[in-house]
Amino acid sequence: MTNKVLITGANKGIGFELARQLGHLGWSILLGARSEKRGQDAVDALKKDGVAAVEWIKIDYNNIETINTAAQMIQDNHSDLKVLINNAGIPGDMRKPGYEFELSELREVIDINFLANYAMIKAFLPILHKNDGRILNITIPIGSNSYWNPFAYTTSKAALNVMIQSLGINFEQNKIPIEIFGIMPGGITTDLNNNATGPYMKTVQEGGKVIVDLLLNGKNYQGQVINEWGVPAEYGAKDSAQS
Ligand SMILES: NC(=O)c1ccc[n+]([C@@H]2O[C@H](COP(=O)([O-])OP(=O)(O)OC[C@H]3O[C@@H](n4cnc5c(N)ncnc54)[C@H](OP(=O)(O)O)[C@@H]3O)[C@@H](O)[C@H]2O)c1
Repeated sequence: MTNKVLITGANKGIGFELARQLGHLGWSILLGARSEKRGQDAVDALKKDGVAAVEWIKIDYNNIETINTAAQMIQDNHSDLKVLINNAGIPGDMRKPGYEFELSELREVIDINFLANYAMIKAFLPILHKNDGRILNITIPIGSNSYWNPFAYTTSKAALNVMIQSLGINFEQNKIPIEIFGIMPGGITTDLNNNATGPYMKTVQEGGKVIVDLLLNGKNYQGQVINEWGVPAEYGAKDSAQS
């Protein structure tokens, strides 16, 4: 049976590259994108690149209804979905000091990076439960320092990272056969960072490979948020809540 993955925000950047690399490994790709044009263009590009099975699925994190509709459609037509990759995300204004945000700006980033991912997990839980599925969230470290302090981005992803740990504990305690984890792949040159380059930045191909290798290495990362070397963040380490 072919492995099947749904990737959100897969029309460009890291999501597109994950679709490309997994597609070349023989995975069947459900390519989540909010825009039909950008989604179909990405599907066409992947087909041209040699990916055999790829289909656009409308998922707009600003419209929770599209998430529920996609889950129903996938339940009906792709009930063998094995992996959900919650990849879509936004950084908000990365330069503005934290005390200058309007609530509405902050709410927009939290809506996308945290609440929409929660809605994805809730909507796809029944399908993934049936298939012993996995949920991978693409994320960042929550720490800030004087060089890296994008307030809306880190606070929203902090909530995501804590959710990963919390749900991992719930799944384990309640014997729900779903693995949830996060990967912090490090800096990758994409539109999100205005295609920044530098000594600590990876190309999207390099970053995509880091993520694919961690996804397919056979290890179980239940409830953990791991870095590019597979090392869990301390707050995301298994059983850290009990120590
Ligand atoms: N780049 C990095 O250095 C880096 C490092 C660690 C983690 N990450 C994480 O990796 C993920 C992907 O980032 P990226 O660098 O590939 O960024 P990107 O190139 O800007 O791609 C972001 C993707 O998310 C989609 N998206 C944004 N808002 C959406 C919404 N409301 N509904 C549905 N899709 C939406 C975008 O779709 P549109 O084209 O329609 O806007 C696009 O497909 C993010 O979660 C980011 O936080 C990135």
